[in-house]
Amino acid sequence: MPEPPRPYIEFQHVSKAFGDHRVLDDVSFDVLPGETVCILGRSGVGKSVSLHHIMGFLKPDSGRVWVAYEDITDYPEHELERIRKKVTMVFQNGALFDSLTVGENVAFPLRERGELSEEEIYQIVDGLLEMVGVREMREMVPSELSTGMKRSVAIARALAAQPEAILYDEPTTMVDPLQGALLGDLIAKLKLQLKLTSIVVTHDMKLCRKLADRVVFLHEARVVFFGTVAEMERSTEPIVREFFKLDFFGLDDFQAGAAPVPSSPGGSNPDLSGSAPPRE
Ligand SMILES: Nc1ncnc2c1ncn2[C@@H]1O[C@H](COP(=O)(O)OP(=O)(O)OP(=O)(O)O)[C@@H](O)[C@H]1O
Ligand SMILES: [Mg+2]
Repeated sequence: MPEPPRPYIEFQHVSKAFGDHRVLDDVSFDVLPGETVCILGRSGVGKSVSLHHIMGFLKPDSGRVWVAYEDITDYPEHELERIRKKVTMVFQNGALFDSLTVGENVAFPLRERGELSEEEIYQIVDGLLEMVGVREMREMVPSELSTGMKRSVAIARALAAQPEAILYDEPTTMVDPLQGALLGDLIAKLKLQLKLTSIVVTHDMKLCRKLADRVVFLHEARVVFFGTVAEMERSTEPIVREFFKLDFFGLDDFQAGAAPVPSSPGGSNPDLSGSAPPRE
């Protein structure tokens, strides 16, 4: 029997509190190389806090955090900066540079590398903007774009850094359903084409069904479910059933206190200049 692959990202019994408020309590899960794991859960349950541990912005009170096959728990800042070149995060607000055009935003990580000619940078940016569907917005500034387009540009900029893994924080919230579906399709396309290891934080069940190889469901600081969507359909956890119910009724936001009801029915790498690093 072949050995199972080593996880690319792993939480081992991670606990984290802010003052008296315990946000993560003995949280364990792993993400295999090339896998897409969705983190689901109600607002305030610690989804973004989990991503911030992976980026090394936060440290656990106890437990270990492994990223890119390394135990980063006690890493100093300069080691974390090395890891952040391999794992990038797409923030909810996009975190674009307001004064730079779309093209310059995406070119930023390429320029930082300092090894590409202007012509090469132009071509790579063109390819990335094409891939995320905003090529014609190249000369615009972020304030001229819709929230959904800003997120697409933020994804293009994250890809320009040629990461091994990408973390998306709520990629489809605060956009209309059509833009949400387009962003979901884009992330699905990137998953197929680039085979990046990905974590998608969301409370959007539709997105989760579209993308997730496995799902981590957080509730009251703990993992109440970790497995495939098919396994999740069979989960008897009340809070998991609640999410399926809201998905069934087409509600995209969790409403606390809603009465429980019975269970609902439930490539090849694009050429980015030819200099993309080999993926595992
Ligand atoms: N730096 C911090 N200091 C103190 N409390 C924090 C800090 N960061 C997060 N929290 C608290 O931790 C809890 C979890 O926050 P987190 O942002 O991870 O929630 P979330 O699951 O991402 O929610 P949402 O779906 O609303 O984005 C919240 O109660 C939040 O107020
Ligand atoms: Mg959040």
